Amino acid sequence: MVKICCIGAGYVGGPTMAVIALKCPSIEVAVVDISVARIQAWNSSELPIYEPGLDEVVNQCRGKNLFFSTDVEKHVSEADIVFVSVNTPTKTRGLGAGKAADLTYWESAARMIADVSKSDKIVVEKSTVPVKTAEAIERILTHNSKGISYQILSNPEFLAEGTAMKDLFNPDRVLIGGRETAEGRKAVEALKSVYAQWVPQERILCTNLWSAELSKLAANAFLAQRISSVNAMSALCEATGADVSQVSHAVGTDSRIGSKFLNASVGFGGSCFQKDILNLVYICECNGLTEVGNYWKQVIKVNDYQKSRFVNRLVSSMFNTVSGKKIGILGFAFKKDTGDTRETPAIDVCKGLIGDKAHLSIYDPQVTEDQILRDLSMNKFDWDHPIHLQPPPSPASVKQLRVVWDAYEAAKEAHGLCVLTEWDEFKTLDYKRIFDSMHKPAFVFDGRNVVDAEKLREIGFIVYSIGKPLDPWLKDMPAVA
Ligand code: NAD
Ligand code: UDX
Repeated sequence: MVKICCIGAGYVGGPTMAVIALKCPSIEVAVVDISVARIQAWNSSELPIYEPGLDEVVNQCRGKNLFFSTDVEKHVSEADIVFVSVNTPTKTRGLGAGKAADLTYWESAARMIADVSKSDKIVVEKSTVPVKTAEAIERILTHNSKGISYQILSNPEFLAEGTAMKDLFNPDRVLIGGRETAEGRKAVEALKSVYAQWVPQERILCTNLWSAELSKLAANAFLAQRISSVNAMSALCEATGADVSQVSHAVGTDSRIGSKFLNASVGFGGSCFQKDILNLVYICECNGLTEVGNYWKQVIKVNDYQKSRFVNRLVSSMFNTVSGKKIGILGFAFKKDTGDTRETPAIDVCKGLIGDKAHLSIYDPQVTEDQILRDLSMNKFDWDHPIHLQPPPSPASVKQLRVVWDAYEAAKEAHGLCVLTEWDEFKTLDYKRIFDSMHKPAFVFDGRNVVDAEKLREIGFIVYSIGKPLDPWLKDMPAVA
């Protein structure tokens, strides 16, 4: 029986390994992590992450050929293939701070593999890493090799949260990069044979190591660039009376452009886009490609602009002050169908409003109060460090905040309501009831274009929808920078 071990039981390691276990009953899969709490949760009925369809797969395989354990060394030493799916955060200090990937967790995993291995291994980069990381890992492993042979493969993951199971069962492609040597090709074939259990051969792409590593950064940069492009257009739509939904439909029907990923929003979030683009920018700069780096940096700048533009619009519409006013926040996760809040635009919007002395009442169907408090008291980039290393939330910094468990409660006696995540339930709320419970004039700021703005206006709301023609009220308010 082939044995696989995955180091890192997170959003990628957990679901990916669960699917491998389901599709390959003859493979024994162990997912290991240094976080005791995470592993306990994977072994319980309350999995540590919310992902539609994940529970069913875990329940089917756990205890048969899928195991979750903190005994990292034992499982690594026994495995034939070791996936490494640990955090690769943005560096917060030192050389490259604020841009470069922090490979501390990766390096410590690699050193541990070198220490405990007693047999040949294929080591698979599952984390998103800078180009040429495989070379560094190879050096760490072979330096301590004790005669053991290691093959390093790059097998970046393209799943998106909220649709992870669907993406894993039916991926657009699986990418495997390896050394162009006989041993390298053999290792690529071994990993390919795992995926071939359920992925059609033509969708398994094999490249050299550096192409695979760079393709992951490039794919995320391209996706994020589409969102920043449509968000940049949304600002122009508001200024000109065009409607961003109509513009993106018209643009997206060109088959060369395509219709996906053109939804204007309050900004993109998630653990990957910003981190990976910053990493790409840093690599460009290290290679003397300043202009190329500046091009990609602009994608992040437009995203930051979109978030601050939203806050500015809100404050200026409400007579230029939200001091002491209650603002209801609907949605905190970075997108629907996940409880993940990493880099969610809600953090910047809420911090902006708190900075303007607003009182916030936040509701999200999947995010816990503890997480929200933690997010709003954490420094930039600190979030991507294993949870047990993160500081506890500081109540002092979040005095103006209440987390509630109902959209109606969030809206009660509020002056304004912001929609920051596109949860389906926000489409069908009783907005008349909400209107009646709010101070007047009652505002709705829809950062996801999920509410029916016309219906809400009929009720009496003043509505702002990203990239849509402005209400006369909003037009009359001072221009937003
Ligand atoms: P995560 O934080 O959810 O999980 C990482 C896990 O690794 C944590 O549980 C942490 O405790 C564990 N860990 C860290 N160092 C360890 C060590 N030395 N030994 C054992 N366990 C260790 O992160 P994630 O979202 O799963 O992302 C992992 C990687 O995959 C990142 O590089 C990310 O960029 C990439 N990625 C993420 C996504 C996504 O949607 N989240 C998609 C594609 C790629
Ligand atoms: C992304 C990539 O899609 C995935 O391939 C990669 O493996 C990890 O990073 P993820 O961050 O989980 O996945 O979600 P995604 O669906 O890409 O959404 C990212 C952010 O962009 C969310 O905040 C989402 O709301 C926003 N978004 C997405 C938009 O604002 N408009 C869109 O049209 C699409």
